[in-house]
Amino acid sequence: MKNIFSISGSLRPGSSNHIILEYLKSMVSENITFTIYDGVACIPAFDPGLDNDDPPKTVAGLRTQLSEADAILICTPEYAFGVPGALKNVLDWTVSSGSFSGKATALITASTGGENAHAAMIKILGAIDAKLTPETTLLISFIRTKINDGIITDKQTVEKLGHLFHALLRTIK
Ligand SMILES: Cc1cc2nc3c(=O)[nH]c(=O)nc-3n(C[C@H](O)[C@H](O)[C@H](O)COP(=O)(O)O)c2cc1C
Repeated sequence: MKNIFSISGSLRPGSSNHIILEYLKSMVSENITFTIYDGVACIPAFDPGLDNDDPPKTVAGLRTQLSEADAILICTPEYAFGVPGALKNVLDWTVSSGSFSGKATALITASTGGENAHAAMIKILGAIDAKLTPETTLLISFIRTKINDGIITDKQTVEKLGHLFHALLRTIK
C-alpha cells in the first residue's frame, strides 16, 4: 500500500486547486491511499520558539502525516504575486523537522497567472530538500477557464495532470 499526502494552498470552497486534487484522487488504484489534508487552516502561525520536538498538536499531526507519506503533492494558487500565506506557514513548520527531505514531491501551481508562486515554490521545496523533478512540476495558468462546474474541461490540462501524476507514481514504485 502506497500513501500520497496532498495539500491545497487554497482554502476557498469550490477551489480550483481542490478540484484538481479531487480529480487526481479519483485516478488512484486500490493499492494507493490519497489523502487531501484538511488542516491547513488549523496550523498556528509559525513560531521558531515553538519549533522543537514538542510543537503544537496540529503541527505534530501534520509532521507525522508527512513522514508517513510515500509522496507529497502540493497544488496551489498564487496570491499577491506570491505563495498563499497559509501554505507558506505550513511549509515553514517543516524546515527544522525535515519532513520533505528526500521525499518524492509534485508541485502544481494552478492560478490566473501563477508564475511567481510557482518559481517561489520550486525554491522553497529545494530549500527543504523535497525530491521534485521537471516531470512532477506543473504550472497551469488561467485555471478558472479550464474548469466548469467542478469538471476539468480543458483536454490539455487533463493530459498534463495525467503525465505529472504518473511521473509521481513511478518515483514511489
Ligand atoms: C487575494 C487574491 C490575490 C490574488 N493574486 C493573484 C496573483 O497575484 N496571481 C495570480 O495568478 N492569481 C491571483 N489571484 C487569483 C487566483 O489565482 C484565483 O482566484 C484562483 O482561482 C485561486 O485558486 P482557487 O480557485 O483554488 O481558490 C488572487 C486571488 C485572490 C483572492
